[in-house]
Amino acid sequence: MTIETAQRETATERDPVLVVDGLGKTYSRRADGYRVLKDVSFQVLPGETLGIVGESGCGKSTLARAIMRLGGISEGSVTLGGTELSAARGRALRRLRRRFQMVFQDPFGSLDPRMTVLEIVEQPLRTHRVGDRGERRERAREVLQALGLGEDFWQRVPSQLSGGQRQRVAIARAIVLRPDITVLDEPISALDVSVQAQVLNLLKKEQKALGLTYVFIAHDLAVAEYFADRVLVLYLGQVVEEAPAEELFANPQHPYTVALFSAAPDPRAADRKRRITLAGEPQARRPDQGCPFAPRCPVGRDREKCRTEAPGLQPLATDGHRAACHYPAELRP
Ligand SMILES: Nc1ncnc2c1ncn2[C@@H]1O[C@H](COP(=O)(O)OP(=O)(O)OP(=O)(O)O)[C@@H](O)[C@H]1O
Ligand code: SF4
Ligand SMILES: [Mg+2]
Repeated sequence: MTIETAQRETATERDPVLVVDGLGKTYSRRADGYRVLKDVSFQVLPGETLGIVGESGCGKSTLARAIMRLGGISEGSVTLGGTELSAARGRALRRLRRRFQMVFQDPFGSLDPRMTVLEIVEQPLRTHRVGDRGERRERAREVLQALGLGEDFWQRVPSQLSGGQRQRVAIARAIVLRPDITVLDEPISALDVSVQAQVLNLLKKEQKALGLTYVFIAHDLAVAEYFADRVLVLYLGQVVEEAPAEELFANPQHPYTVALFSAAPDPRAADRKRRITLAGEPQARRPDQGCPFAPRCPVGRDREKCRTEAPGLQPLATDGHRAACHYPAELRP
């Protein structure tokens, strides 16, 4: 296969490239049978960045791995460019795999310590038999250069790199195949603040140059606001709100989103936000009935409907804005 024929064939411009429908996940080794992800549905359009935010432990990495079909999913479907992943086996699955790539949360564990930087970035091209040897080398060099890793770095092994450099190698390895979807699981959270902006800008530049589509998991809300076009808010493994990034940050509707934003250390917002304190301890799991956020919710804690009836994800007045709440917008920032 030549590099040209290996490039993506995209359907109509605005057809979603990724469709996640009713995704659920139960870890088989959990004796309690608790669903870490429950009924997660969303779509990603070509060329956009979908941000996913939520507290530690809410299921962001589990979702990333489920999208990539690592570790299996328990319910629902993931469809990439019109093909459902669970139906694919063997060679078909391998062909699909090259169309989606992942940058893992831990940048240190994911690189082979014995391989040189150039070998690491060439490897996916070799695995998927893209181009000949010379073409592969050329392409790997090109991507490394674009990410600010010049010739000096190519023969080094991972232990001879800084954290930021290693993460850039992991990103180069992910995007060298020009995947349809790149899932980035907190790609900058382990990096120094000074390198974070640099890596984000490189990711944006490459996205523009190659027409890449990202699913970007972020701990830091300011990063999600800056980097994502649309944002999903996860709470205890469920989507509680979804909106275009600008709209979500200007006009959050779900009490959890409002509380999450109010707790973020964002100096710009100090004068326009009050701090909202949530009741009780962070929950480890959803209550058996009603709204998952009800035990901590300043709006619905004492409301019968919230304690007994689970709210569905409903469209709101603004286009593309959805929230799972019986009383959206009652809690204001
Ligand atoms: N292999 C596993 N077996 C059982 N439970 C797991 C496993 N991996 C994760 N979990 C549990 O699933 C939940 C979601 O974990 P996950 O790693 O997806 O969270 P996260 O949102 O990525 O958190 P963080 O922001 O800290 O990275 C947690 O309660 C975690 O303890
Ligand atoms: S449904 Fe009720 S408990 Fe749940 S977030 Fe909305 S107001 Fe709070
Ligand atoms: Mg995680």
